[in-house]
Amino acid sequence: MPVAVVTGSNRGIGLSFCKLLSQMGYEVLALCRKSSPELEKLGVTIEEGIDVTDEKKLGDVARKHQGKTVDLLLNNAGIMDRISIDGFDWKSMQHQFEINTLGPLKVTEAFLPLMSKGSKIGMITSRMGSIGDNTSGGSYGYRISKAGLNIASRSLAHDLKEKGIAVAVLHPGYVQTRMVDFGGDIDSDTAAKRLLKRIDELTLDTSGSFWHSNGEILPW
Ligand SMILES: NC(=O)c1ccc[n+]([C@@H]2O[C@H](COP(=O)([O-])OP(=O)(O)OC[C@H]3O[C@@H](n4cnc5c(N)ncnc54)[C@H](OP(=O)(O)O)[C@@H]3O)[C@@H](O)[C@H]2O)c1
Repeated sequence: MPVAVVTGSNRGIGLSFCKLLSQMGYEVLALCRKSSPELEKLGVTIEEGIDVTDEKKLGDVARKHQGKTVDLLLNNAGIMDRISIDGFDWKSMQHQFEINTLGPLKVTEAFLPLMSKGSKIGMITSRMGSIGDNTSGGSYGYRISKAGLNIASRSLAHDLKEKGIAVAVLHPGYVQTRMVDFGGDIDSDTAAKRLLKRIDELTLDTSGSFWHSNGEILPW
């Protein structure tokens, strides 16, 4: 049975990942700070109390599953605060950097010992972290933190190639979740389905690519 690790699994896109992966026959390790009734219903392995900023807890949970091979790691957890030039909130900027940029790296560090040739990592970023695509400004903390995630993911793609591990940098689309007050144009199941298709297509040759969930290549 293939094994997948999903962060931010209690709601939104993460919950949809867990649902779809479990239907596809994966053993799903669902990491979250606090579970939800929707997640409980899926019958997946829930690891509660896991904040992606807490490298100690991440190390503990990865060690607990030692002996398994993680075929797919989905770094999905994230937050968005809209910070404009009219009022920089430095604490919030730092918080977004901790969760959106360093968090996925901490999760990856913890689970790398359980990954091997053929394993894949999906970094759920945002096109708002694209410099080339920034035509509207604003959202300083979110944009900075996702741009940081993008460059870190690209480095990981290079560094993990010799281990045979591929990394995809993925924008889900504008998705109806709490992050955007449910104002998106696709639902989270559709987004997760499209993202899993991109990951299925991912190879070592395309590792480090920045894709929209619809398959479009995005500018850095
Ligand atoms: N929705 C969109 O249109 C959109 C567009 C572009 C990119 N994205 C990206 O897609 C990913 C999923 O977002 P979503 O739309 O599904 O949003 P969401 O419904 O707000 O879900 C965010 C998830 O991240 C978790 N999370 C936040 N901070 C965490 C922390 N410190 N440690 C562990 N988990 C944490 C949340 O858990 P709690 O319940 O504990 O807070 C929740 O499970 C994010 O990385 C987001 O940036 C979304």
